[in-house]
Amino acid sequence: MSTAQSLVTRELSAATAAATADILSAAADAYGRVDNPDLIRDAADIAKTFPAELLSACEMERGGIGFRVIAGFHLDDQAIGPTPARWKDADPHRTADWDILMLLLAHVYGKPFGWSGQQDGRLVNNIVPSRGHEREQTGASSTVLLEPHTEDAFHPGRCHYLLLGGMRNHDDTGTTLSSVREVDLEPAEFVELASATVPILPDTSYEANPAAGALPAGAASSAPVVPTLWVGEDGLCLRYDPAYTPLDTAPERYRRAYGSLSTELARNARTVSLRAGEVLVIDNDVIVHGRVPFIPRYDGTDRWLKRINVRVPGKDRPAAEEYEDGYGEDVVDPLSAHPVYSERSTSK
Ligand SMILES: [Fe+2]
Repeated sequence: MSTAQSLVTRELSAATAAATADILSAAADAYGRVDNPDLIRDAADIAKTFPAELLSACEMERGGIGFRVIAGFHLDDQAIGPTPARWKDADPHRTADWDILMLLLAHVYGKPFGWSGQQDGRLVNNIVPSRGHEREQTGASSTVLLEPHTEDAFHPGRCHYLLLGGMRNHDDTGTTLSSVREVDLEPAEFVELASATVPILPDTSYEANPAAGALPAGAASSAPVVPTLWVGEDGLCLRYDPAYTPLDTAPERYRRAYGSLSTELARNARTVSLRAGEVLVIDNDVIVHGRVPFIPRYDGTDRWLKRINVRVPGKDRPAAEEYEDGYGEDVVDPLSAHPVYSERSTSK
């Protein structure tokens, strides 16, 4: 563990880890799998039974750097089975206790949700390298740098917190994290980036999804422009995804300011190697995240993460976001019995 990582890591005591494991195995026995509607209904109450030390470890520092690692959860590398070849191949029973951990932790922070077009609308996603996707800017990629980005930046319903659970990471492949709270910009650059000047377009997996409605030609010119920076209730916030931001439509002074922001985010980047039994909590309004390249083996031992999105009702965002339609991509209400799922197999 690096020094930077140790500063933001909360290591659970053996007693708390054991008590948490007992809660998870009891829930797995009672409900079977994380998408059991009875569990979805009961999860908020079960999360309240977490040990006090765990709940304390979850608390994010107000106005802080924007991420936290909670370490020491029980995880048996043999019991979880091989890393699946594709997210679809993950066995929902074999990792039920870890899926349930992600769901319950999400309830500690707010309301978990899924996307109608992402991994069949599942609440808890599996992030694994997949053949044929090695060079994409998506979570299924491997051999390319996954560029720093705000999760689902194009959408006004994007998560406030993103939780990543470490199932397996034998090669210590790093997740990159940069906090907007650490960038050093000129006042004029802040002003420029706080103006709604350019849109953020949906990612390629969305375009490949006819069911959700492909982005029509010329949409960049009619898409809503959004601010890159704003001041939230506890400090500076950002909404950033350069790979899907048509900067060529922006004035030169905006492009220069955006370039300065990108340079500062890169300069302040930390790399966290999420290990088995660790959960990374990311404030999606403060942190941009990415992943360093790695060579997948496709032999069942590759890096494997769990992911869940969390909304915090009432947490402030720019008011104009209320008028964005999110390009037709829908949030799944976890309590809805029959959400309409569509195919969007990848996300970053
Ligand atoms: Fe991402």
